[in-house]
Amino acid sequence: MFPDLTKHPEYLRGQTLEWCNQLAAKTGKYEYSWSHTYEGQAAENILSEKLSSLLHGKVLEVGCGHGEYTVQWAKHAEEIVGYDMTEGFIATANRNRKSNVRYVVGRTHVGLPFPDDYFDIAYTKKGPTSWYKEGNRVVRPGGTLLLFHPGDGNGEGAEHGVYFPGLFASPSIGTPILDKIQERLETSGLTDIEMSVLKETVWLPTPEDVFEMVCFGQSDGFRQFVREECYTQIVSQFEKHASEKGIKTTGFYYLIQAKAS
Ligand SMILES: C[S@@+](CC[C@H](N)C(=O)[O-])C[C@H]1O[C@@H](n2cnc3c(N)ncnc32)[C@H](O)[C@@H]1O
Repeated sequence: MFPDLTKHPEYLRGQTLEWCNQLAAKTGKYEYSWSHTYEGQAAENILSEKLSSLLHGKVLEVGCGHGEYTVQWAKHAEEIVGYDMTEGFIATANRNRKSNVRYVVGRTHVGLPFPDDYFDIAYTKKGPTSWYKEGNRVVRPGGTLLLFHPGDGNGEGAEHGVYFPGLFASPSIGTPILDKIQERLETSGLTDIEMSVLKETVWLPTPEDVFEMVCFGQSDGFRQFVREECYTQIVSQFEKHASEKGIKTTGFYYLIQAKAS
């Protein structure tokens, strides 16, 4: 029904360094450009509730983006360090820094540039999964890790893929995200691991919001292509499936709590 947008010459796969750099060059922020409303509780609020009861001492956030979430915890902690690979996001974060918050640019693949047992707590909100073992090293024994990741069947696998076939990547078979998380947890050295699956309901109010979601972090040329070649069809699919609140979608997240050893 829609052209395969991954074949567009300017398409960048979401969350890659190149894609993050392009998004940062445009807006300086990792911030959704589409309107959406939650029915009931947003999954992120459950993470925030947990963090507000756990945070103290020295805290690390991995994949902190532009630091908007990081900085709000400044008064709960002695020191907070935000770590992220995207320089443009960290530049924004540094402009809004508080005195006990600092940011470090780097990629988890090469390890974390912090001493052993330095932190009391480390967490991520939608950041990478490649640092659990390093997390175990830099958090003191008995300290806490709280890991919040988009789940399997999220977005592409759910209603977006059904309502807009071809516009979003096709659903994955099995649970590749969970499999990767479990593989990494097994070799991390973390103990007392507890995992829950969080589900949220999100309404997308207009076809323009679907357009923005498809084009998030992509180039102007890509946006123009989608506007010209797909927009009419986005509107007609939207109208077919929307109720007065818009289109109802479901999001899944994994929330993991563990102890460093
Ligand atoms: C989905 S965004 C989430 C940003 C922010 N935590 C939020 O919830 O809005 C993922 C973030 O992780 C960063 N990131 C992804 N992979 C990384 C890696 N291997 N090392 C360091 N940062 C990474 C990206 O630059 C991006 O800012």
